[in-house]
Amino acid sequence: MTKLIITIDGPAASGKSTVAKLLAEKLQAGFLDTGAMYRAVTLAAMQQKVSMASTAELLDVLKKTRFEFVAANGQMTVSINGIDAAEEIRRKEVTENVKYIASKPELREKLVEMQRAIANDCEKIVTEGRDQGTVAFPKADMKFFLTAKPAERAKRRYAELIARAGGQSEEIKLDQIQKAIEQRDRNDKNRAAGPLKPARNAKKIDTTGLSIEQVVQKLFDCVENKNKPKSKPKKMRWFRFARGLCNIFCNLFFRISVYGRENVPKTGAVLLVSNHQSYLDPILCGIPIQRPTHFLARDTLFTNPFLGRLISSVNTMPVKRGQSDLAAMKMVISKLKQEQMVCLFPEATRSIDGKISQFKPGFGLLCRRGKAAVVPVAIDGAFEAWPRHKKIFSIGKKISISYGKAITAEDVKNMDNKQLADDLTQTLRRMQNDSRAKHGKQPYEY
Ligand code: DC
Repeated sequence: MTKLIITIDGPAASGKSTVAKLLAEKLQAGFLDTGAMYRAVTLAAMQQKVSMASTAELLDVLKKTRFEFVAANGQMTVSINGIDAAEEIRRKEVTENVKYIASKPELREKLVEMQRAIANDCEKIVTEGRDQGTVAFPKADMKFFLTAKPAERAKRRYAELIARAGGQSEEIKLDQIQKAIEQRDRNDKNRAAGPLKPARNAKKIDTTGLSIEQVVQKLFDCVENKNKPKSKPKKMRWFRFARGLCNIFCNLFFRISVYGRENVPKTGAVLLVSNHQSYLDPILCGIPIQRPTHFLARDTLFTNPFLGRLISSVNTMPVKRGQSDLAAMKMVISKLKQEQMVCLFPEATRSIDGKISQFKPGFGLLCRRGKAAVVPVAIDGAFEAWPRHKKIFSIGKKISISYGKAITAEDVKNMDNKQLADDLTQTLRRMQNDSRAKHGKQPYEY
């Protein structure tokens, strides 16, 4: 089964073959030069002296000849009836006759079938030609269409032919090469079956003025970026806007102090572990930090369609209360694996007196599986602002949010769940009392 298919299409001498080969090497993928397949059938037909106009005779060549195309790592070998044909298929006469094979739908169909079978045997493949993204592999993971101005392509082909001839030659003329390239472009674009055209979702790259290395790097970067999780810009804008509103709300109604913001890593998987004093806590944990935060909230809040949509739109995931919710745990781990930040309240329910109760060890698994750094967050004053027995919050209360030093993912790995829970409970209690002292409040007794 192929796990990664990358197609590179484009006109003659646009640099596809060289680029595809180097990209395949970089990705340790198979390399398929489908032009070589059309050339090999053309050569075999010429050797067997069949009529290039007869589809039946050409199909017969395909049937009776043993073609071997091996797409190894960054290499492709071509043999006809056991004889290596890599050099001969590049002859001028073959190039001139290949249009007869390329223009016949029945032959193209057979060649596309062979291309799919070759790809099927590779775990990853970079395949280049004219119709790879449009016909052969419409569902490819990544599609490129390389172009370059005819004059530039002619220059490249000229240099290639001179190098192959071992130096200057009277027979190799730049203007004739350009004319031949333009004619092949017309043939490739105008045939009814598998014409040369970019796939709708192909990334078009003009290679004029770029070195081979630059083009390969460009393609490689695109493949790498494609595999990275994407942030959704629209959702991100809404999240930022909502965070802005929450910021205004909190600073309007309460006196907010933030400590240790710099302790929150700017990238990578992070688990903010906070105590829980009031409904305000998720907002308080999230607003001082530039990074988007993901939260958990009890699933019953999602049954109200308006509230459900609102809280999901600000990265909140449902969790079943009073049981170990496997689906929610998986969601958290998957967010952490995508190197995102998640905020958790291990006490699960709001404090009855503002104090921090002993954390249960269960959440240690999430930290370890998500390979996350753990940042303790101590909230104080939210209980006075909105205790659980009050329906509405009181305004003007002092609230402090303190971010402690992160425990690295490496250190988390070396702690067992109970040790981590005990450690965090103690740290948060200490941080909470420190900020109470700063605000002239009596420390809690633990
Ligand atoms: O890429 P190349 O110049 O080696 O290709 C030789 C010919 O084969 C080219 O003129 C068009 C044809 N071809 C095709 O029709 N479809 C492909 N997928 C690849 C090549």
